[in-house]
Amino acid sequence: MLWAVGIVLGGLTVVWIAWNLTLDALWQPTDRVTMRRLLVLSEIKPGERLIDLGCGDGRFVVTAAKEFGARATGIEIDPFRVLFAKAWIWLTGLTQRADVQRGNMYTVDVSQADVIVLFLSATSNFRLQKRLKAQLRDGARVVSYYHPMWGWQPDMVGEARDGYPIYVYRMGAALGKTTR
Ligand SMILES: C[S@@+](CC[C@H](N)C(=O)[O-])C[C@H]1O[C@@H](n2cnc3c(N)ncnc32)[C@H](O)[C@@H]1O
Repeated sequence: MLWAVGIVLGGLTVVWIAWNLTLDALWQPTDRVTMRRLLVLSEIKPGERLIDLGCGDGRFVVTAAKEFGARATGIEIDPFRVLFAKAWIWLTGLTQRADVQRGNMYTVDVSQADVIVLFLSATSNFRLQKRLKAQLRDGARVVSYYHPMWGWQPDMVGEARDGYPIYVYRMGAALGKTTR
């Protein structure tokens, strides 16, 4: 009987890994030093709204809410990581300011965000750009670890712990956007 349970669990794990490989961005958590550096560069202020698109285990959401006083939301497509992140938020007592939802980052409404966090892939950034530009208000920041946004002029470029860039973009005229 035990062998049957093992086969089912093994099969589910293979399906889960195979499904993850179809995503534009695989899970790879940001290290804690880089995460805090990125949050500082984003100039997130208490009460501002941060959205992490592809939030993984929710570390940006928890840290932004706990240490920066932000109202933080994570969007994640993998149900297991969503469960983990929700449990983490609950255990840290941050449910008033932090939230993780299962969803597709390509269809989510980001118009209320002051800061968007991205650690994805070149393809994901490219696919998200049009939506971000159309929905974000002037002054909102898009902060991307490792991958730049195509054709956007960064406000500044910081350095992650591993030496890779952290791109900070400020929506508005500097990006060539003058109207909503
Ligand atoms: C490189 S990880 C980054 C995790 C987290 N933001 C961090 O920096 O630690 C990318 C995450 O994006 C998620 N992801 C990939 N495609 C997605 C989609 N279409 N919608 C929502 N999340 C997605 C993956 O499941 C993965 O957890």
